Amino acid sequence: MKKLALLFLISISFYSCKDEKKDTPSPDNICDTANVTYSNVIKPIISNNCIVCHGATTPMNLGDVATLQGLAANGKLYKVITHADGVPPMPKNNPKLSDCDIAKVKVWIDAGAQNN
Ligand code: HEC
Repeated sequence: MKKLALLFLISISFYSCKDEKKDTPSPDNICDTANVTYSNVIKPIISNNCIVCHGATTPMNLGDVATLQGLAANGKLYKVITHADGVPPMPKNNPKLSDCDIAKVKVWIDAGAQNN
């Protein structure tokens, strides 16, 4: 009888474990677009994906926030990263940014592309 009770307990704990996993999305599925600021979120995305070609010694320095704000305002920033028609897809010759990074850039642009 003791063994049966133990088995019962074990199966319950397995069950609840499984249940928990189902309710909690894995970190891969979470895209946290809250508190998107230029310094904490956007700058690192640009640094990691764009500065290699658009750095300080290039005509279009994307490390300069004013340049980036200009491209946000005229719509080009969002177009190039979403590979829209009529603009060269960016990052050039590299994989598209993750959906989450694109979502964060959009949040930043929609909030006025602030230098925050
Ligand atoms: C491998 C080099 C490279 C990388 C990485 C790169 N770019 Fe570019 N980018 C270029 C070149 C070269 C051009 C000029 C247009 C062309 O030749 O396609 C350009 C042009 C642009 C333009 C101007 C488009 C236009 O129509 O005026 C924007 C905006 C831009 N890039 C944004 C970005 C952003 C944002 C990233 C990062 C997500 C990025 N680029 C990453 C090389 C790169």
